[in-house]
Amino acid sequence: MNSVNILSDKKILLGVTGGIAAYKAVDICSQMVQSGADVRVLMTYSAQKFVTPLTFGALSGREPVRDLWQLYGGEEIGHVALAKEADLFIIAPLTAHTLARLAHGMADGALVATALSIQCPMLIAPAMESHMWEHPATQSNLQKLVKWGVTVVGPEPGRLASGASGVGRMTEPDQIVEQARMILGRSGPLSGIRITITAGGTREWVDPVRFMGNRASGKMGVALARVARDQGAHVNLIYGAMSVSPPMGIDAIEAIRAEDMLRETLDLLPETDILISAAAIADFRPLTTHDTKLKKESGKGIELERTPDVLKAVGERRSAIGMPRIVVGFAAETSDLLQNATRKMKNKNLEMIILNDVTATDAGFGVDTNRVHILTRDGAVESLPLMDKEEVAFNILHRIRGLLGAQSIGWSPGIGSVIPS
Ligand code: CTP
Repeated sequence: MNSVNILSDKKILLGVTGGIAAYKAVDICSQMVQSGADVRVLMTYSAQKFVTPLTFGALSGREPVRDLWQLYGGEEIGHVALAKEADLFIIAPLTAHTLARLAHGMADGALVATALSIQCPMLIAPAMESHMWEHPATQSNLQKLVKWGVTVVGPEPGRLASGASGVGRMTEPDQIVEQARMILGRSGPLSGIRITITAGGTREWVDPVRFMGNRASGKMGVALARVARDQGAHVNLIYGAMSVSPPMGIDAIEAIRAEDMLRETLDLLPETDILISAAAIADFRPLTTHDTKLKKESGKGIELERTPDVLKAVGERRSAIGMPRIVVGFAAETSDLLQNATRKMKNKNLEMIILNDVTATDAGFGVDTNRVHILTRDGAVESLPLMDKEEVAFNILHRIRGLLGAQSIGWSPGIGSVIPS
């Protein structure tokens, strides 16, 4: 896997059936194409009543398949050839009718005939009125597909086409694309590897309405979690205050104070192969947290005390339990960048440290891009150009895989070994 986005160069079949949510399939198609996927759309007759084939054709650059006979003319059997090449078949929205046809193997149109011929995973996003969804016929049809290994996303509760409220809305396109990424990444190069990532900024409470915090947005940690998930890793994300949501398909644990980060991180150590500490963890906290809101008359100063150093504690614990195999830290610096980062890597017993200059406006806190230097124990420094945070994450994970590979062939930077100064 050489591309940052798992969707890049993947052959995706996107089945669209006749529900009002068909217009949202346009967004799925667009997102997939923008991520570099080769998308072929298959539309049922009813789907074409909601969205024109021209829309999908223009977005995907390929004529949508509407009719089984349209696929014939070449040497191969059309729908079989289409199915053979696919990496993933998505059906969104999936109506009760096409669900029933799939469950009963009724290959009476291009979409179901192709669905019956695939060897790749299938992802379905049902959408229908809630009474249709709850009907035993629909539920038993669905159970058949689940038993066959099909992944189901949604439907969600909310306002339906009829104006009523209930379960039946199609899951939003962003979430369906996330699910697709997860499925495609399942057997990736990190499958079987457990990664714990800390992200965001900690908050230390002064009183019920005030806290000491920092500018971290959590974007770098979330990018790492998403890319690691897409490479098949089992990801635990321990997160503080963030401006973004944890991605789906990972285990997310909220930990707001440094103390919480410490507890959650140490708890997960025995089941962590790789720990990446991307969180901006406060070094100080108020000596006292007041139960009631502080009044201005009550004084000017807030007395502080040190918080625990999470990575230091990890360094001590890992010599006893032999886990994690690799610990990676981040160094947010404003001066003497390389010296400070090298010192931190050494003091915290890390295999790797990611250095970023947080004075740059286009990199580091809050923005979608980052410019980092990757330092490893052997003294190597690799400077990456300004990149999207997911690209940075991809590069970091690539280097970590290199370290894991080196460990498995006998070279272990290992616990307690000497770090070049
Ligand atoms: N870190 C930690 N526990 C803390 C503070 C930081 O585990 N109490 C981790 C961060 O998640 C990061 C690394 O240590 O991976 C370096 O964090 P940074 O804030 O750059 O350095 P500090 O250790 O706080 O050192 P200094 O304040 O001297 O820069």
